[in-house]
Amino acid sequence: TKVLLNNRIVDLKSANVNILDRGYQFGDGVYEVVRFYDHAYFELEAHLIRLKESCEKINIPFKMHLKKLESDLVYLMNTCDYSTGYVYIQITRGVMDRNHIYRDQLDLKPQLVAYTVKEEKRPLKLMEQGITVHVTDDIRWLLCDIKSLNLLGSVLAKNKAHEKGAKEAVLHRDGIITEGSSTNVFIVKDGTLYTHPANNLILNGITRRVIIDIAKKEGIPIKETAFTIDEFLNADEAFTSSTTAEIMPIVSVLLDEKTYALGTGKRGVITQKIQDAYSDLIAKIP
Ligand code: PDD
Repeated sequence: TKVLLNNRIVDLKSANVNILDRGYQFGDGVYEVVRFYDHAYFELEAHLIRLKESCEKINIPFKMHLKKLESDLVYLMNTCDYSTGYVYIQITRGVMDRNHIYRDQLDLKPQLVAYTVKEEKRPLKLMEQGITVHVTDDIRWLLCDIKSLNLLGSVLAKNKAHEKGAKEAVLHRDGIITEGSSTNVFIVKDGTLYTHPANNLILNGITRRVIIDIAKKEGIPIKETAFTIDEFLNADEAFTSSTTAEIMPIVSVLLDEKTYALGTGKRGVITQKIQDAYSDLIAKIP
């Protein structure tokens, strides 16, 4: 495995990080996950723009040229021996003696690390079968629009879901569904698609945005309106969306030790229609 360390490509073994890096001490940084299919990135530019926005929201100066970063990432992708997978990119505030206050450190240099994680084929079988999710409290902070390295809330929720045999945790605040631990959540009710509005309570997923565009093109009514746990349980269809798992039907729900079938308990027709349109986009990557 090769690693992009700032602007150098190095071997994983020699890609060492200083333990005084604020990413390590404080989780003081942001990240992105970008997929590539058959040696081509999907929505790379949108991910890099969001990376820049995440940096700006926490006052990490972002001075890289996006085109240069893009070409470094293409180079990195081409060093790996598989064609379909994903790249992890993170930027931390930099290295300094441990102190909450970074403002006086004028020589603080943001540190970028990127590597191709592993071969990851499209989860086609699961995309047909669907998954079980576990509904749990959203205990995260109030700046979920930032793709922060601080993932403890998500990590704990996902592990609780895993312990119960569910694939994803669906999070709620006071009975309103926000998103999944690493996905956005959509429901279909009476032919209309609903998803939580893009505010500080969710990450505005790149996959989410692509789905909204697909819905508009396909004439599927779409409302960026939040829904309750009850509305979720009574939906006709539901799915999660993310870079790695794409559009994943939710076919059953665990909540308070009870299991509920979602809709017919099978992948829904609108979900499938959106999956098909998404596959068409992947097939057409320039
Ligand atoms: N997760 N919501 C949260 C909290 C996420 O962490 C993610 C992505 C998404 C979906 O965003 P996108 O469609 O841009 O991937 C929504 C990544 C994949 C991860 O943590 O691995």
